[in-house]
Amino acid sequence: MLVTGAGGGMGREVALALAARGAHVIAHGRDEARVKPTLDAITRAGGKAEPAAFDLASLAATRAGAAELASRHKAIHGLVNNAGFWAGSREVTTDGHERTWAINVLAPFALWQGLAEPLRAGNGRVVNVASVQHEKGRIHWDDHSLAQGFGAQKAYRQSKLALVMLTNELARREKDLRANAVHPGVIATDLFRNMPWIVGVCIGAFCPSPEKGARTIWRLAAEAEFADTSGQYFHKANPKPPHKEAQDAASCARLWDVVAGQVRS
Ligand SMILES: NC(=O)c1ccc[n+]([C@@H]2O[C@H](COP(=O)([O-])OP(=O)(O)OC[C@H]3O[C@@H](n4cnc5c(N)ncnc54)[C@H](OP(=O)(O)O)[C@@H]3O)[C@@H](O)[C@H]2O)c1
Repeated sequence: MLVTGAGGGMGREVALALAARGAHVIAHGRDEARVKPTLDAITRAGGKAEPAAFDLASLAATRAGAAELASRHKAIHGLVNNAGFWAGSREVTTDGHERTWAINVLAPFALWQGLAEPLRAGNGRVVNVASVQHEKGRIHWDDHSLAQGFGAQKAYRQSKLALVMLTNELARREKDLRANAVHPGVIATDLFRNMPWIVGVCIGAFCPSPEKGARTIWRLAAEAEFADTSGQYFHKANPKPPHKEAQDAASCARLWDVVAGQVRS
């Protein structure tokens, strides 16, 4: 099972939990040094893991990373798109996309596409880590990169709404796979590093641990109870109807085509 952003935060806990349940974990990070402590912890506990290193902000690197994994593994049983990003300011990637959109939307899509064959062969489960913030999001159809008015929260909300919509469309298109999205709760991790320091201090002091936040994520990827669950959005441990636009099949299909075009070009 592949877990992105497995070097820290919830991704590390998801990787440890999956390995403890017998999965051979592919622990992804932007470089190998970042995931080495996770790999060491898994092997120390008697589990099996290997690294995968590429920058999710680059479509070329993500495509190449997926191709390399697909050539190494005939079957992949889980893809946990955990890595995520909250911007400090507006940045545009080398592919010309706003960085939040690139990491939170295009990279999960490119991974799913690049790993489609091994995921199908593995009867795989795709778990996309979204956010409750998606409920206040809006897709800026003509300006996903928010060149006409950027805000970090606006970008994050849009990206997580898009991820929930694409999850539903993936579930609709691929009947042999399971695809679900999850809001893990507000969890004490480094995600808030680009927010005012007081936010990080408060979240660190009052919010649950990454281990707790990881629980529904790894359960959706591994537990028999969820073997037939697909096209659902989980708010912490429970399914919940997502944003209205994510329930609109036509909107989800339209977004799929837009994102497929962006990932291709
Ligand atoms: N914490 C919360 O309250 C909360 C709430 C709702 C949803 N979420 C979502 O939960 C997921 C996990 O986040 P977290 O809270 O555990 O925060 P985190 O500790 O900051 O984890 C984010 C992970 O994504 C990786 N990442 C970011 N940009 C990357 C890039 N360009 N290439 C490769 N890896 C990249 C980070 O790697 P580096 O460490 O190397 O940057 C890190 O491992 C995210 O999708 C987030 O949006 C979090």
